Amino acid sequence: MSTDARPGRLPGPVPADRRVPELDPALVAEWRAGGGEPIDLFALARERLGGVAAVDLGTGSSGPTVLVTAPEAVRHVLALHPDRYVKRSHRARLLIGDGVLAATGDAWQRQRRLLQSQFTGPGMRRYERRIAGAARTAAERWAGYARTGRVFDVGEEMRRFALDTIWRSLTGHPLDPGTERELGAVAHVVAELPSLPADGGAARGAVAAELARIDAVASRAIEAARDGTAGPDGPGLLHVLLDAAGTRPEYTDRLIRDELVTLLVAGHETTASTLTWLHLLLDRNPGARERALAAGPEGSDGRRRAVQALVHETLRFYPSAWILPRSAARDDVLCGYRIAAGTDVVVCPYLTHRDPGIWEDPGRFDPERFTVPGRRPADPGSYLPFGMGPRACLGLQFALRESTVLLEHLLPDRTPRFRSVPDGAAYSITVRPGGPTPATLG
Ligand code: HEM
Repeated sequence: MSTDARPGRLPGPVPADRRVPELDPALVAEWRAGGGEPIDLFALARERLGGVAAVDLGTGSSGPTVLVTAPEAVRHVLALHPDRYVKRSHRARLLIGDGVLAATGDAWQRQRRLLQSQFTGPGMRRYERRIAGAARTAAERWAGYARTGRVFDVGEEMRRFALDTIWRSLTGHPLDPGTERELGAVAHVVAELPSLPADGGAARGAVAAELARIDAVASRAIEAARDGTAGPDGPGLLHVLLDAAGTRPEYTDRLIRDELVTLLVAGHETTASTLTWLHLLLDRNPGARERALAAGPEGSDGRRRAVQALVHETLRFYPSAWILPRSAARDDVLCGYRIAAGTDVVVCPYLTHRDPGIWEDPGRFDPERFTVPGRRPADPGSYLPFGMGPRACLGLQFALRESTVLLEHLLPDRTPRFRSVPDGAAYSITVRPGGPTPATLG
């Protein structure tokens, strides 16, 4: 190990074309024997070896996996050379098929272009009423819990809100209880994904039945949209996809189903777990809630900025997409290190966001990092909860808007009192609270 290695940083000037330092296999064996989580091993590799480190997990088809956490290396992989580091087979392919999250090459580019206009600038305005409607529905439910003193699960509530928001945006209709129940299958399949075949393999048993339920919901929604029954807030994203099918033969019913399920999955699990973490973090840091509310009166820019900073600081602690896997498409030199074609590369925002070499006192919940100029590290590779480069999150503005609007409804007079809090986190496709989050409101 180089003596000048500092956590997360590159170890000083790197002579071009050097081998990536590898974590001692004895430490990997020790970790495996102890039944640890991959994040523990990655944290050890970052601490011992710095911001580009190799770890032999025994899973890479082409040698050890390269862990990337240094901001300049993160930018190299995701933003500067996305053609050299590509998505291979997406872990959620069984569920999302050829949707934009998993697609590659020209197909991805076409799919992304169509959706991009729906999620940026003026395209975003059409969601305002839908987001506000879903936030009002959630706030009414919370008012009921406050009246009755009933115990409810904060994580489950956040999931219902995020699902309702994206469903309204896709179909133009609020989420009805029957569809909500059926879409419970999405969470079950997502939970099973890490143990399922990533590519080509067919689902069996319970998972196959859940996938069939999801397909049934999707085809009902597609049929309803095709019949022209737009919801109270006008046509949804599904209508945009169906219109595209009129002129572009690649938009088959199958691809429309895949995009629908992709947006449902990408668009609610992430937001729901972020909002759940946010409530847990505020429970531990009540002063942060008070300061956000004191930043300005209801509806003011000051209040909105402060509430958004709560979301950003939560995403710094718990970026839902805690790893971004890529595969080296060709030989490359990454910040001086040699990378062979075929190498598995894992960018890990979670570790970048908690690196004491990059962030001051990273263990402290301090939303003002995102409001006070100069408090954030200058390198854009230091903070990437929504990814970077051409494959960055399509729903960034959507996610920030729905989170802020919901919190503006809930924060002023609804503070969950947790009956118990989960011990830690579950690191799966996303990083979620590792258990139930029962609470009451008073
Ligand atoms: C807090 C909430 C969210 C977080 C933290 C998040 C995070 C991410 C990240 C990190 C990526 C890039 C993955 C990679 O590079 O491998 C991504 C991609 C994506 N996200 Fe999000 N996301 C969130 C909410 C949403 C929402 C609300 C939507 C839809 C309305 C959405 C739709 C997508 C799509 C479609 C992609 C794939 C883009 C592509 O491959 O071209 N996300 N998201």
